[in-house]
This record gives sequence, structure tokens and C-alpha cells, in this order.
Amino acid sequence: MTPTPKPGILEVSLYVGGRAAVPGVAKVFKLSANESPIGPSPKAIQALHAAARDLELYPDGSTRQLREAIGEVHGLNPDRIVAGGEGSGPLLTMLANAYLQPGDEAIISRHAFLVYEIVTRANSAVPVMVPEKTTNRGIKVDVDAMLAAVSAKTRMVYIANPNNPTGSMLNREEMARLHAGLPQNVLLVIDAAYAEYVTAKDYEAGIELVARHDNVVMTRTFSKLYGLAGLRLGWVYAPPAICDVLNRIRGPFNTSSLQQPAGAAAVRDRDHFWKAVEHNNTWLPWITAEIRKTGLRVDDSVANFVLIHFPAEGEKTAAKADAFLSQNGIILRGVASYGLPNCLRMTVGTEEANRLAVKLISDFMAD
Ligand SMILES: Cc1ncc(COP(=O)(O)O)c(C=O)c1O
Repeated sequence: MTPTPKPGILEVSLYVGGRAAVPGVAKVFKLSANESPIGPSPKAIQALHAAARDLELYPDGSTRQLREAIGEVHGLNPDRIVAGGEGSGPLLTMLANAYLQPGDEAIISRHAFLVYEIVTRANSAVPVMVPEKTTNRGIKVDVDAMLAAVSAKTRMVYIANPNNPTGSMLNREEMARLHAGLPQNVLLVIDAAYAEYVTAKDYEAGIELVARHDNVVMTRTFSKLYGLAGLRLGWVYAPPAICDVLNRIRGPFNTSSLQQPAGAAAVRDRDHFWKAVEHNNTWLPWITAEIRKTGLRVDDSVANFVLIHFPAEGEKTAAKADAFLSQNGIILRGVASYGLPNCLRMTVGTEEANRLAVKLISDFMAD
């Protein structure tokens, strides 16, 4: 007999991140992982260097300075924040570990972030994949279909808002309706990894819902707008009872003494924050409009990436576009694993990268 993992674990498909290199191509622009083209706040880097002097000491196990900085900036009680030192992904893992039992069901929209299915299966629970709807603006979570999927076995509902890779969002009213339709014992997990980019007035990242209810949490990350994907830092805002559960099961020192001051400096640097928002506000509409000029369908996005639809057959497929772009130094993200085999996802990059990507897509389509 060899050691056997829990049922479900071997059904997990390995998560494959966005490619970073193309063999034989010297200079590439990586627009495949929704990373920041602006990079991190210089103040965060300074804080990181300063903290490197004391690495012989254990960090503060409660991550207080970071939770206080987040609380200050977002107007939240730091006691209702739990930080995670490996990005926001492990916070999703901890939530699933704590609240899913074998045979329980977790409701996930069809084109949602892949980690929800992974953490569900890893707990021998059952992912219930719900189709999304296509509107004239793009592909979107179907609140009614999500609610119709609720059964006596449902324990969690995952929503990425905005969603990756579709770039669509649920507004305040839609999210409130989803929550209102769930039984009290179902935990609604709102993954707001891209919240910082959203400028829509009717968007609510989850703070109001978490503040008012015992069965909602909101996760956030420093990997996207804050430009700190390599630092691996995230946080969750949750009701006190859920924070208590997470604090019991997390590692005792689950954020490092480099992460804590760097994250605190990053969240306090509002000038840098607005610089990143402005960059996105300039280039997201430009990319969308320019690629549409080639005749391709590009869905409306509220995040820092766009979903581009290619013909299913012939000379202009997503796979052929991907090969052509890669050979010419632009790496986009194939999203077949998200159930979108005819699409590529493009992250908003630097001006140089955006212009080159758009030119290459036009050349590919014109050819
Ligand atoms: C919707 C969504 N949630 C969470 C994450 C994970 O981010 P982190 O780097 O914090 O683990 C990503 C990263 O791509 C994402 O797209």
C-alpha cells in the first residue's frame, strides 16, 4: 500500500500560469499573466530593502502593520482582515479547507478563475459548474443560473468580480441579489483581485456585503494593480467568526518580514495607485477599440485585460494567432482551460507592448 491522497485530489488539473518566454525569440512582452506594466511603488521597494536588514528575526505573526495600513486606506476594521503570504490563492485554499467537507458542493461559474475548482476538489467536494450568459457586452456570470444551482449540499459559492478571463463584472445590485438568494449556511466568496481597476460607479467590491452579513468574504491581492506579483501577498476581509477560523488554521508566521512593510507602503502610496489606474484607463479602451477595428470580437472589460474571440476554424484561429504573436515577441494567454478555446486574453501592457500587440494582431488578420 502506498500513501493515498484524499479523494478528488488526483482529479485536479495542474494550474499552468501564463507563459513568460518563447524559445528562440530574444525580446518578448509578457501580456499573459495580468501583471502590472507600471511595476510596484518605489516606496514599497524602499521598505523591502530596509526590512532586509533584520531577517534573523521572526516577523510579527499577526501582520498588524499591514492590516492597519489596509484598514486605514479602505476604512476597515483591521481585526476583520487576515493577510496571506502566498498571494490571495492560499486564502481561497484556507476557506475551502475550513468550510468544505467531502461531498459538499461549491458553485462556480463556467469561465471563472481555475483555483476555485482546484481547492474544491482538493477537499473531496464537488464543483458545480454553472454556464454563463453572453450579452452584447461579453460573457457574464448568470446570477439566476447560479441561484438555480443551489442544493441542500451547497456550502460555497465563488465569484470573481471582475471575472478573469472574461473581464466582466456583477454590479452592486446583482451581487446583492445573488447573496440574498443564498441560504445563511452558504459562504459567498467574492474574489476581488481586480477591484482596484474598476471605475464603474455601480461596482461594489464586497466591502458593504461583508460588513452587513455573516456569510460573505472578499479576497484581495497585491499581485495586480500594486505590481507585486512576485512578493506573493493577499488579504481577506471577513466576518469576525470567519477571521477567527482562518487565524486558527493559517501558518503562525504566514507573511514575511519583507512582505509586511512592503505591502503597507504599497497600499499607502496613493500617487502610485492612481498612476496605475490612469495607465489602465488610457490603454484599456484603446486596445479594445483598435482590436475591434480588425473585425475581431473583443468583450468589454472593467479589469486590466481583454478577452479576444477568434474564428473557430480556418486561418485565423486563436491557436494560429497565438503562434504568430509569440514568434513576433508578444505572449498572450490561451484560455482553453477556462472553457474558451477560441479566445486569447491580453493584459494591458506598456505603451510599447500595447502598440506592438495591436499592430501584430492587425497584420495577422489582414494577411
Ligand atoms: C480572479 C483572480 N483571483 C486571484 C488571483 C491570484 O492572485 P494571487 O497572485 O494573489 O494569488 C488571480 C491571478 O491571476 C486572479 O485572476
